[in-house]
Amino acid sequence: MNSVPGPASGGHVAAAGTRNRISVLHGVNLDQLGRRPAAHYGSLTLMQLEARISDWGAELGLTVQFFQTNHEGAFVEELHRLEGTVDGLVVNPGAWTHYSWAIRDALEIAGLPAVEVHLSDVHAREEWRRTSVIRELCVATIAGHGPDGYREALVRLRDELGRMSA
Ligand code: DQA
Repeated sequence: MNSVPGPASGGHVAAAGTRNRISVLHGVNLDQLGRRPAAHYGSLTLMQLEARISDWGAELGLTVQFFQTNHEGAFVEELHRLEGTVDGLVVNPGAWTHYSWAIRDALEIAGLPAVEVHLSDVHAREEWRRTSVIRELCVATIAGHGPDGYREALVRLRDELGRMSA
């Protein structure tokens, strides 16, 4: 009997051609998680949050990569680079969400299905946080669900990518 190599980490193996590559992009000040007001952002560091997201991704059959920067141009250039290397995006641009038309335009150029995530409930905070310049480009916005919001985003993207592959 031929032996079929199993997944190295025991996770789900995606069929060839399956769209399952996700990039999770964090913007300004999100590297400071763990030092930011816990009432809004919880107590996980970015590294701990990314580890959770990675585990959720593996459970869902997704390969997840991460990027964080405090420099708007670097965020824009990362979006320029992603086409053809990943299939979907989870984006939390931090405060840039509320005013960066440059990031909005770069997300449009990337042309990938994206879910907008915020740890805090941006709709229940200051008025200026209610504006999102990227919302119209995203298949969904999830805010105020803490780290679990990223799991919801991955599920949403998996469903979206499944529909696109069908
Ligand atoms: C945030 C919400 C933004 O208003 C804020 O500027 C952040 C984080 C969130 O995840 O809740 O830096 O995007």
